[in-house]
Amino acid sequence: MQQWDCNGTGAQIFHVSPVGGGYVKIVNANSKKALDVTDLRTTDGALIQQWGYGGGANQQFEIFDAGNSQFGIRARHSGKALDVKDFSQSSGARVQQWTWAGTANQRWTLQKAPTGYFAEQIGPIFQSERCSTCHALGSKSMLVGQHHGLIAASDITETATPRGTQMRCGSGCHVSIASSVPGETFDETEWMVPSFDMGIDWTGKSVSDICVTVKTHLPTAAAQEKHFFEDARIAWAVHSGVLPNGTQKPKAPPGNFAAFKVLMEAWIQDGSPCP
Ligand code: HEC
Repeated sequence: MQQWDCNGTGAQIFHVSPVGGGYVKIVNANSKKALDVTDLRTTDGALIQQWGYGGGANQQFEIFDAGNSQFGIRARHSGKALDVKDFSQSSGARVQQWTWAGTANQRWTLQKAPTGYFAEQIGPIFQSERCSTCHALGSKSMLVGQHHGLIAASDITETATPRGTQMRCGSGCHVSIASSVPGETFDETEWMVPSFDMGIDWTGKSVSDICVTVKTHLPTAAAQEKHFFEDARIAWAVHSGVLPNGTQKPKAPPGNFAAFKVLMEAWIQDGSPCP
C-alpha cells in the first residue's frame, strides 16, 4: 500500500466492514482485495499489501479515535498501527505497521466515498449491453461471433491508429445507423468498433475508472458534447439497439436519446465530476 494524491479512482476507495470483535476488514473498491500485513509479520516495519480476504488476523483492523477527528488503525494480529514510512509526504511512499506513537504519519482521516451523479446515473449506461455491443470486443473473431453468421472475418478491416485498433465492416455489411433516432442527424455515422487496445472496454472497469478514462480521452466540455451528442454509434446504443438480423437488444437506461442528452448535459455542466 502506498500514499498518493487524491484522484477519485477506485484504487483509493475502500469498503470498511465489521468482521466481529470490534474489528473490520478494509477492502479496495477497484481490486476487491483486502489490506493485509505481509506474511503475518508482527514486527515494526512490516509492509501493508493487498490480498484476497481470507479472514486472517493480519487482515483485520481496529479503527480507534485518536482525537482531532483523526483515527489510528491497528492490525489485530500484531497490535501495530498503519504508518507512512519515514514520515514521507511524497506520492509512492509505502505504508507499513509500527508501534502506535500517535504521530502525524499514523493518523488518518476517514471520508465517505463520493458516489453521486456519475456512479448512479451514467455508469450504468456505459456498463449496459448496448454499449458493450461494440466496446467489449477484442478481436475479429469475437466480432464475427456476435453477427449471427451474417459476416465473415474477411468482411472486417482493421485500422491501426495512434490510440489503438479500430475494426470496421467493408462496404454494405451493416445497416445504417445515421437515422437511429428519428429527427436527429449526426456528424459521426460510421459503424466501427474499438479493439481492447484502446482501453475502453467498459465492462472490465469500475464506474470511477470509466469516468477517469472518459475525461482522459475527452478532456473538455466541448469534446464531451461532441462525442456524446454527435456520434450516431452512441445514439444507436441508447435509442435503437436494432441489430442487422432485426432483433433489438435490451434497452439501456435512460431508454431514449433525448433523456440521455439531458442526463449527460447535467453532468458536463457540473464540470464532469468523477466518483
Ligand atoms: C457501434 C459501435 C459503438 C457503440 C454501440 C458504442 N461505441 Fe463508444 N466507441 C466506439 C468506437 C469505434 C470508439 C473509438 C473511437 C476512436 O477510434 O477514437 C468509441 C469510443 C468511445 C468513447 C471514448 C471517446 C474517445 O474519443 O476516446 C466513449 C466515452 C464512448 N465510446 C462511449 C460510449 C457509450 C457510453 C456507449 C453506449 C451508450 C457507446 N460508446 C457505444 C464504438 C461504439
